[in-house]
Amino acid sequence: LWVSAKDGRIEGFDWEAQHYTTVQALMARKGWVDINNPETNGNNNNGKHTMVKLVFTSTDRNEFFFPGFIDTHIHAPQYPNSGLFGSTTLLDWLEEYTFPMESAFGAHDKKDSRDPKDTPSKTLRIYDQVVARTLSHGTTCASYFATIHIAATNALARLCYNRGQRAFIGRVCMDNPDFCPSYYRDDSAEESLTATVSTIEYIQAMDPEGTLVKPIITPRFVPTCTRPSLENLGKLAASYTPSLHIQTHISENINEVALVKDLFPESSSYAGVYDTYNLLTPRTILAHAVHLTADERRLILERDAKISHCPASNSALGSGIAPVRTFLDEGMTVGLGTDVSGGYSPSILEAARQACLASRLLGHTTAFLKKENHHQCNGNGQGKAGAKDETGREKLSVEESLYLATRGGAAVIDMADDLGGFDVGMIFDAQLIQLGCVSQENPETLLDERASKNLVRPGTVSNVDIFSTEKWEERVHKWVWGGDDRNVKAVWVGGKLVHERD
Ligand code: GUN
Ligand code: FE
Repeated sequence: LWVSAKDGRIEGFDWEAQHYTTVQALMARKGWVDINNPETNGNNNNGKHTMVKLVFTSTDRNEFFFPGFIDTHIHAPQYPNSGLFGSTTLLDWLEEYTFPMESAFGAHDKKDSRDPKDTPSKTLRIYDQVVARTLSHGTTCASYFATIHIAATNALARLCYNRGQRAFIGRVCMDNPDFCPSYYRDDSAEESLTATVSTIEYIQAMDPEGTLVKPIITPRFVPTCTRPSLENLGKLAASYTPSLHIQTHISENINEVALVKDLFPESSSYAGVYDTYNLLTPRTILAHAVHLTADERRLILERDAKISHCPASNSALGSGIAPVRTFLDEGMTVGLGTDVSGGYSPSILEAARQACLASRLLGHTTAFLKKENHHQCNGNGQGKAGAKDETGREKLSVEESLYLATRGGAAVIDMADDLGGFDVGMIFDAQLIQLGCVSQENPETLLDERASKNLVRPGTVSNVDIFSTEKWEERVHKWVWGGDDRNVKAVWVGGKLVHERD
């Protein structure tokens, strides 16, 4: 696999080069270097080509490359709260867990500073941990919500840049005093705007081409924002060429939807509020979308705004089940989000698994069955045959969930031509997956050499046991249902190695 050292794009594959010696000869002939070799990496790489890694993918091996995961919705400052939510639901969870945690991320006496150094050391440690942890789970690109703090938001951008993770960084805007607590909010719509501009300028100065890190305009969600603030932010996004990305939440929880209706009685719907303020654009990421109406879905599709499906979070906070099949059937663009810490895990593999599970349960919900009985009633009042077919159709396949985790996510961030796959010309953002194989009954099928030589305890490298008779498709299914970060052996962003499993 050959990747340009200049821009990290895939130049091609060489299926003939079956042995390392052949590859070395080929490289010598073409003047290419192996970036994994410290002796040749660096100075004498004339900026031309790079060999990223040689992997044998014949059927007796247990490793494969997979496109890096794209997390289209994650809150970096909520990471310490992962798994802590008790039995709260969205609105009381924000009040009890989230706002108190986020409010501690900035230094109050350094409110206007842009300098990452004016950030509490605890914030830096947590942000560094989030970036390291998501990388170790194979997330090569993430769209982060930070906090309202300028310097801390810039620090997160700098950490992603330094560690080599592709990222969108959003300084959270929340200025509505009727919803936001006095200890954690912007003083005015004006402050939401100027503080946002401040982080945009910092990030664009740090990475002028936006090769790795880009700013994203982040009104937290409708209840936290005043009308002037929403208006300012919509205008701000449009004032850039190309227009800036936008991220927010929509229709996650039924009490939230009712609250939005109360707060914005003049709007036809939740999506309608965002549309009024020009916040529904082809570069807008809408997280959750659990309770959208058909009219709202139509509006979102018309504006070509994108959906971040966060199934682990939707289940954990009891928000509901988003109708992903409907989104896909209607032609919406969908990716996956961990929504840490509404979601309890930083893993997009977990999000993919939960997307499959949620879709399998949706067919059994009252709302769904009611609808199906209405359409499919077969005369005995139970709508059995129809409902059975439809519950089957609702199921997301493993392959579809992996599509959402990669190419779907790439489309959500408007980078479908660059990310999410291994097409020639795409950027090499990738993870090397290693599956284990430790079968006590069938020792002859041991595929993990280290495990077979008893150099590692079973389960240390991987808890996914595979067998020599299994097809690649089966191995990939086992990875999705049973895998975790132990299976992520190495991670590259833009052809650069950014993580290796210890
Ligand atoms: N809605 C407003 N803020 C948040 C948040 O931080 N997480 C989730 N899941 N939903 C939100
Ligand atoms: Fe969220």
